[in-house]
Amino acid sequence: MTEEGLKPRKDLLDIESLDLEEIEFLLKTAGPFKELFSRSVKKVPALRGKTVLTLFYEPSTRTRTSFEIAANRLSADVTNFGVSTSSVVKGESILDTVDTLQAMRTDYIVIRHGDSGIPGLVAKHTRASVLNAGDGYHAHPTQALLDAFTLREVYPESAGKRVLIVGDILHSRVARSTSIILNKLGVEVSVLGPGSLVPPARHTFMHAFTNWGDALDWQPHVVYLLRVQLERQQEQFFPSLSEYHGVYGLTNRRVEILRQKGIYLMHPGPVNRGVEIADDAMKYERSLINQQVENGIAVRMAALYWLRPGTDERGGDS
Ligand code: CP
Repeated sequence: MTEEGLKPRKDLLDIESLDLEEIEFLLKTAGPFKELFSRSVKKVPALRGKTVLTLFYEPSTRTRTSFEIAANRLSADVTNFGVSTSSVVKGESILDTVDTLQAMRTDYIVIRHGDSGIPGLVAKHTRASVLNAGDGYHAHPTQALLDAFTLREVYPESAGKRVLIVGDILHSRVARSTSIILNKLGVEVSVLGPGSLVPPARHTFMHAFTNWGDALDWQPHVVYLLRVQLERQQEQFFPSLSEYHGVYGLTNRRVEILRQKGIYLMHPGPVNRGVEIADDAMKYERSLINQQVENGIAVRMAALYWLRPGTDERGGDS
């Protein structure tokens, strides 16, 4: 057991496997870490002497940088593994790469990969703690945690609130992980998007709307926009980007409705201006997008602080 009475864990791979107590612990722990950000010294010694390695097989701005800052603020030593300049391009397998990193006594591996399940495979193969930074369509657990943390900042009593997720549900690991954590916290979640991007298997516990009018009649407290993931689409899911914007995007006219109703706006980033969101909507005063980015550091500090690598004599379960 940890000091907090929780069973220690080695890895953070998804939201499904976390129980409510663990989620509440992570959200509660992120709060004091965020308070550090306004101090002149933003560091604590919690992970002094530990090594954190970021291993990203897909591009990232927010997740990689915030994990790096989070690890630095916990006083860990951080190394970014540059996949495109490594022996991966000579054909080295992912497990051989992980063996090599293990030999260097890495304590934490933060991994993003285009294939679902790779972080889980790596976790079984290494004594280091593995933190999933996004795998295929499967999971993005720290995004879900930062989304829940951000929602709690504006609605401390978030149970019973309503969140409308809009866009490309089919390809979105964010939609999957964030809807699951919100559901566990008692938040109502619905989805809106073209039928081709909102398959029934992806929203088993959520209502699916097909137009903004009906979705806004549901009176959401937050509209959570998703990027249309063109890089994952092998076929055409809607006629054109401009048509998508007109039918499903947050247009200037729809922002005005959000403003009148006092609805908050969230987006995991990166944003495609002119597709899921109009240029001017980025200036919406109830946008929580930058708050989400800042909170990403705090929840990632909490996650790194919580996990127990197998390299630690107190080691945790997967
Ligand atoms: N939200 C998110 O995962 O952003 P990045 O791809 O920039 O990490």
